[in-house]
Amino acid sequence: MSRFVQKNSKLEISYNAQSKRLLDIKLSQEVVKNFLDRIRKEDISVQHLEYTPYERQVIASYLDEEVGNEFGNMLRDIVNDRETGGFTIGLEGVSKDTDEYVIFSTAIAHLVGISNFDSMTGKYYARFVVKDTDASDSYLRQAYRLFTMHTDGTFVNEATDWLLMMKMVEENAVGGESRLLHLDDWSELDKFYKSPLGEHKFQYIAPPSKNVQEVVFRKLFFLKNNKPCICFIDQFAYPETIEEAKFLKALSHSIESDKSVIELKLNVGNLVVLNNEFWMHGRAAFEKNPNLNRELLRQRGHFYE
Ligand SMILES: [Fe+2]
Repeated sequence: MSRFVQKNSKLEISYNAQSKRLLDIKLSQEVVKNFLDRIRKEDISVQHLEYTPYERQVIASYLDEEVGNEFGNMLRDIVNDRETGGFTIGLEGVSKDTDEYVIFSTAIAHLVGISNFDSMTGKYYARFVVKDTDASDSYLRQAYRLFTMHTDGTFVNEATDWLLMMKMVEENAVGGESRLLHLDDWSELDKFYKSPLGEHKFQYIAPPSKNVQEVVFRKLFFLKNNKPCICFIDQFAYPETIEEAKFLKALSHSIESDKSVIELKLNVGNLVVLNNEFWMHGRAAFEKNPNLNRELLRQRGHFYE
């Protein structure tokens, strides 16, 4: 039994029904309400959070205080714990206002660490919509294609320790679940990690929509706390030999077809936080629907020093 599983008047933590690697944190409605009341009383807007970085950490402390019991510390422990490294949490129906979703996700993110600048939007977070049609240059917003398994932050130099994804809006959507795989559940991890190219530094170049110009070389596998971690995305890797290309294709195929991949069910107003170094994520294809409308929010960041 995970040391994090518990129940008190402020929260309840249990294993996610789809994966013992993920913990579901259910806050009491009172905690969420008290937190939002404090934000409303101080009239803290999303724009204010965008313009004033310290306010993101200040509101994180408000949520920490409402839950008590070293809540923020526990979230950091969960994300750093190799056995889990991930959790879900939400607003428990207390608000349907998407601005308040942004505020809540900001508080959670800044208990875990500090959000990185998102070059795609020029903010510390990104909201992006998936609809029936799309003319972008990556699979991020293409609804009817499988978005292959990867980690985030491959083509930037800064650390991307963790990732937060929140479901903001969902209408006429069947499919499109987040596909997730914990590295220790991947049956062929050792085969790829221990191969001669396992620690090769692959070249990554971002497409124009990411607004990132640099070329980055990153090790595919690297050790942290003596356990293998991974940095990989198929779309932006530029292998320099045919051997490298075939290796990456085989790796992607192996991850994609692993029987431990879960397709996470997540309600609107809920979010998932994952350790980006040993969890991989992707997205299942949606079923065709001309009225499809799904919006996600993401924040990626690094841990506090
Ligand atoms: Fe991603």
